[in-house]
Amino acid sequence: MRKKVSIIGAGNVGATTALLIVQSGIADVVLFDIVEGIPQGKALDLAEACPLWNSSSLIKGTNDYSDTANSDIVVITAGFPRKPGMSRDDLLHANAEVVRHACSEISKTSPTAIIIIVTNPMDVMTYLAWKTTEFSCKRVMGMGGILDSARLTAFLAWEFNVSPQDIEALVLGGHGDDMVPLSSFTAVKGIPIANLFTKKKSDALIERTRKGGAEIVALLKSGSAYYAPAAASSHMIKSILLDEKRVLPCAAYLNGEYGIKDIYMGVPVILGKEGVEKIIEVKLSKEEKSHFRTSCESVRKLIKKLSL
Ligand code: NAI
Ligand code: 2OP
Repeated sequence: MRKKVSIIGAGNVGATTALLIVQSGIADVVLFDIVEGIPQGKALDLAEACPLWNSSSLIKGTNDYSDTANSDIVVITAGFPRKPGMSRDDLLHANAEVVRHACSEISKTSPTAIIIIVTNPMDVMTYLAWKTTEFSCKRVMGMGGILDSARLTAFLAWEFNVSPQDIEALVLGGHGDDMVPLSSFTAVKGIPIANLFTKKKSDALIERTRKGGAEIVALLKSGSAYYAPAAASSHMIKSILLDEKRVLPCAAYLNGEYGIKDIYMGVPVILGKEGVEKIIEVKLSKEEKSHFRTSCESVRKLIKKLSL
């Protein structure tokens, strides 16, 4: 039997993730949204593309959670973007309501699913999803670090004029302005970037990575990035469904790892059929540790605002 992936939120990230999954043929997909017609229309369009992709995946669009029942993976991309006049706090509370509701439905209809949270502020929403579902923390995780690392990889590849395939970049911490790019773990074919770039140059690329999401928002004028976020989400889905055990930076629950407890933070994990099968602890420099703690504090402040 093919695996089942449900995607909550049929907007830009959700529909593009659905595209990547059905195109690859690794699972059937259910696309859910509260708006009537949108998930059905996008699913029909994707289903009609499947013959052209030689894909046997089935896809269904719905406004009914019962169609998502017994999913292997549920990806939550539902939520609101920030609108004019809306503070970050307003957005936090609005998206928390969406994620809370989706998670309480999923915990009833797909009690053994693995949940991937994309909705922002992602690290906080992942903590909320874990609390709401009461699932094992191994089965609840967030997408952010893969995207941030991919952005840094792209910038380094352009700068050095090499294929991104030969670049390894690692960005940890929260998926926000104070994310923690680790230059000591970033290399071109194993050669640390400190040997290849001036500090000024690598600092500039790291700064561009921190602002990577905002750079795209400024260009698009409305809405935010979705091609790379969907590609990052599909990496996670594939690693879990195929039990690839890839090492990917994801928001995972820390219970003492990195000296930190009771928070979701971006760290390298092994992703397999059980979900987050292991958290890998890398040795951070004093400066990196301090950035990591600052990033944790930003996430904790938002968790407090939700009184979780
Ligand atoms: P979008 O606006 O295109 O799509 C959001 C969808 O959610 C809409 O179709 C809307 O109808 C739906 N929705 C709203 N309330 C719902 C509910 N209660 N139940 C089901 N569906 C509901 O937004 P986009 O671009 O797809 O982004 C989605 C979220 O992902 C945003 O919060 C965004 O900030 C976040 N994001 C996070 C990234 C990350 O790295 N973690 C990267 C990119 C986006
Ligand atoms: C991004 O980094 C908005 O979180 C989203 O593009």
